[in-house]
Amino acid sequence: MPLLRSIGERFAQERALDGVAVAACLHVTAETANLVAALRAGGASVALCAANPFSTQDDVVAALAGEGVDVLAVRAESAEDYTAHVEDLAARKPRVALDDGADLIEALHADDKRLAGLAGATEETTTGLVRLRAMAAAGALRCPVLAVNEAVSERTFNDRFGTGQSTLDGILRATNVLLAGRTVVVLGYGATGRGVAQRARGAGASVIVCEVDPMAALEARMEGHEVMPALEAAERGDVFVTVTGVRGVLRGEHFERMKDGAILANAGHFDVEIDLDALRDLATGTPREVRPLVEEYDLGARRLYVLAGGRVVNLAAAEGHPAAVMDVSFALHALAVEELLRREGELDPGVHAFPTELDHEVARLKLASLGVEIDALTSEQQEYQRSFRRPG
Ligand code: ADE
Repeated sequence: MPLLRSIGERFAQERALDGVAVAACLHVTAETANLVAALRAGGASVALCAANPFSTQDDVVAALAGEGVDVLAVRAESAEDYTAHVEDLAARKPRVALDDGADLIEALHADDKRLAGLAGATEETTTGLVRLRAMAAAGALRCPVLAVNEAVSERTFNDRFGTGQSTLDGILRATNVLLAGRTVVVLGYGATGRGVAQRARGAGASVIVCEVDPMAALEARMEGHEVMPALEAAERGDVFVTVTGVRGVLRGEHFERMKDGAILANAGHFDVEIDLDALRDLATGTPREVRPLVEEYDLGARRLYVLAGGRVVNLAAAEGHPAAVMDVSFALHALAVEELLRREGELDPGVHAFPTELDHEVARLKLASLGVEIDALTSEQQEYQRSFRRPG
């Protein structure tokens, strides 16, 4: 992860994070360990818990613990343990919080004392930002949050390239299904849905998109995908991928129309997009595990296959985004920590756009790591851009 390495080297020289307590609620993966290392190189003390009970890599937990990092996570921990770990981190009153899904930021708001020393927080996911904006609208958000998720470099790398590839990776690892010639239904055409649709098409599948936003639906159509309501798509799909951030996207009426053998996966943050209670009600008996992370629901004449219990498939059935993607995401978080400390007391409570200069800095670092050089505007071109006069 060359970006994090270079940021870590700078942090180690400057030691601007000396004594800063950082609490991070992130997926505990090898990539996250590199973010922790960069922050520690700058002098921060980092405590880490999982952003999802099923994404934790236990070997990474052991390695981090061996290096003296306080890490509270075990793969497949119970919901109670998961919550207790988030609470534990919040109770430590961090200076900076790094979040993926907003559980930690919510827990920090449970008690004024927890918020007292907080300079601010970062948020990695769309789902987290939706929750935080709802908190802000209710007047309940009491710290500044930098929207890492909406940095342009994050949207491009993490959502489109990252989720696009790693979601298919999870589906393929779990099922080994051939995508060529199949119909993949992508529910939700945000940045992540675009990535999944693009990669599925690249693998030879026909793609149907279901979307509630007219602009996004129009874009999907102009990209050459079929667009239709989920009830229609239910009859056509071989593989369904929910990536909406909304609950109950695939419900009883959809399951009733699906083909025998249809595969259902979720790439959204929470496991609420596929209504498994409704599926259990329709099925006879209990679901049968036919391969690791693949459960068969018997609907009489038809069988449906749910991957990873409807949990975020790229992390539960694969390894999440590759390091080359998370390098960009975590470079953004690392720079955000510096920024939150630099502007402590200046930023109002609320969700803030990610600073463009830092976004560009990350893009420049990424280009440099790829050995790509780009042009710069000449001084005449810059002058032209500043002028409002019609060119003569
Ligand atoms: N989110 C998606 N992929 C990830 C990864 N590899 N590490 C941490 N968070 C992630």
